[in-house]
Amino acid sequence: MISNKHIVVDIHTHIYPPSYIELLASRDQVPYIHKPTAGDPRLIILPSDDDQSKLAQNRGRPIDASYSSWEIKRAFMTSHGINISVVSLANPWLDFLPSSESPKWAKTVNDDLEKACLEFNKEPSSSICKLFAFGTLPLSASADDNRAEVIRLKTLRHLRGVIMGTTGLGLGLDDPALNPIWQALQDTETMVFLHPHYGLPDTAFGRPEVVARSGHVLPLALGFPLETTIAVSRMFLAGVFDRFPNLKMLLAHSGGTLPFLAGRLQSCVEHEREFIANGGCKQGPKRDIWEILKMNIYLDAVVYGESGLKAAVHAGSVERVIFGTDHPFFPPLGAESAAWPSVGTNYAAIQGAFEKDEDIVEGILGGNAIKILGLEV
Ligand code: URA
Ligand code: ZN
Repeated sequence: MISNKHIVVDIHTHIYPPSYIELLASRDQVPYIHKPTAGDPRLIILPSDDDQSKLAQNRGRPIDASYSSWEIKRAFMTSHGINISVVSLANPWLDFLPSSESPKWAKTVNDDLEKACLEFNKEPSSSICKLFAFGTLPLSASADDNRAEVIRLKTLRHLRGVIMGTTGLGLGLDDPALNPIWQALQDTETMVFLHPHYGLPDTAFGRPEVVARSGHVLPLALGFPLETTIAVSRMFLAGVFDRFPNLKMLLAHSGGTLPFLAGRLQSCVEHEREFIANGGCKQGPKRDIWEILKMNIYLDAVVYGESGLKAAVHAGSVERVIFGTDHPFFPPLGAESAAWPSVGTNYAAIQGAFEKDEDIVEGILGGNAIKILGLEV
């Protein structure tokens, strides 16, 4: 039996399996892959990527084999000291598909992921190099279709949960139509990895020429985390965590701004006149947000700074924060380099925030994920 000490687990790492790349390449509406006559193909997944005022070869971002190759994933893991990756389909998942197609695609992608894990784990390696996965759900289809896929995923040996965005069945995560899906996720003890994609409306970031100048900076740095914050706050206010007290959610990017704003959120709930707590007429959430952060929520450590990481640990606990890289997003720019600065920044933040406590660092880098997701080492 190998000790869990010094094992590094990356739980925030993405892939577009080849079948999904073909799907994107067959489309000409967002999301799609555009193949210009010169230069790399371009990934157009955000509405703002589809800026018709830019030359087609400058829209969106370049997409190369790192988005779909398992060999490149392995090389990245090896060069960054990662022993286990729990991969997930990258945004926007299957959200855009018609309801008649998404169940079939969910099956295809999830079966592809299971097969890839099996193959990947067969390869001999000098150190542990293993793959597990989060599955994807056909959220544009019915609640029944989703329930069925949640249950089917339990038969796939390497699947350790599901990744989903914030739109649910189209109306957000506070939609009561999601109840049967939350029930199935709770009953099967399936971890939900909640990940943003839609951000905030472009107008939140300034005039179009300002938005065009700063590219993805504001949508990714602020839009993504605020989207997650709002989605979970809406679930909280709608009483989802009261109805499903054992739901398990892993929030991307250290919970957006939730650890920082939880106190303010709770205080506003307690001062809202419409809620029963203050003699109002509507039932507010019964459990408070701090309890939910400690009982239902797990946070990744993809926040690139010590203060964000300390807030995540403070809001949750040292056992509930887990390392991630967001590979293949945020690659080094310019000259090819083996070491990704985005990954180095995250490692440094974890070391810097908890340098005196090796056990905490070990837990965040791997031990926590092994326990929480039941990863066989
Ligand atoms: N990270 C992601 O996971 N998706 C993006 O689109 C950008 C960064
Ligand atoms: Zn991501």
